[in-house]
Amino acid sequence: MSTLAGLPADLLESLEGITSMGVITGAGVSAESGIQTYRGQGGLYDDEAEGDATVEALSASTLHHDPDRTWRVVAELARRSVDAAPNPAHHAIAQLEQNLTRFVLLTQNVDGLHKLAGSRNVIDIHGDVLDTRCRDCGARGRFTPEEVRALEGTPFCPDCGGVRRPNAVLFGEMLPEDKVRRMHQEFYADPPDLVLIAGTTAVFPYIAEPIVVANQRGRLTIEVNPEPTIVSPHVRWSLRGKAGEVLPLIAEALTSD
Ligand code: APR
Repeated sequence: MSTLAGLPADLLESLEGITSMGVITGAGVSAESGIQTYRGQGGLYDDEAEGDATVEALSASTLHHDPDRTWRVVAELARRSVDAAPNPAHHAIAQLEQNLTRFVLLTQNVDGLHKLAGSRNVIDIHGDVLDTRCRDCGARGRFTPEEVRALEGTPFCPDCGGVRRPNAVLFGEMLPEDKVRRMHQEFYADPPDLVLIAGTTAVFPYIAEPIVVANQRGRLTIEVNPEPTIVSPHVRWSLRGKAGEVLPLIAEALTSD
């Protein structure tokens, strides 16, 4: 158990000499940027009826037969993203990447805040809410914050007039193969010395598994979350705390000379 004033002495000791790290994040890392999480107290799905409606709106089948409904929810998520700024957790993760020999970030977040904070080797497995592609001709696009704030209904492709869709993974869709391949290369072939998971309920197996595998393979594993999750029993350290408070401590421990 961590004291927020600092990290346990034996954890600090085990961090010595670490040169490669993998970080896995979810919505909780953006909570301190003011972006609502999906599950748990105050989450988007907290109200069951509203949650079910949101999941249905964000599904591939709804995009197909009622794109306006999908875009109403996507536009709201996009507006929250462009109105938010990276918090100390995002900056700590970028600082770790800049200072360690090998670093990879696997994120479920579509808000773009990790890249805004300077993270580069990012596997954004669910995509980015500002990116779009045309459902008919495949043309790629990216909304500016101003375009997002002015978004009304379904946007159409400037090239062919087809429906533009968010270049994010909707419920019922497959994950992008290239990103799954990268995830396997980074976390399975030769797991980093240290794997840290923060701010996620890890409900998806492809998010829980990499850190469980790392733990089984003898790597150091850390979870940062105010609540216990399904991965808590499978990590060496499960730190009860906020990402914005604990991750800077870990970055300081790993990057200070
Ligand atoms: N610091 C760290 N963790 C936090 C914080 C914080 N300040 N605040 C909340 N949390 C934790 C919660 O305890 C919870 O475990 O963040 C987690 C958020 O979980 P979810 O809302 O389920 O978000 P996530 O795990 O990212 O969801 C995964 O589900 O709906 C889909 O595609 C969506 O990417 C999302 C995926």
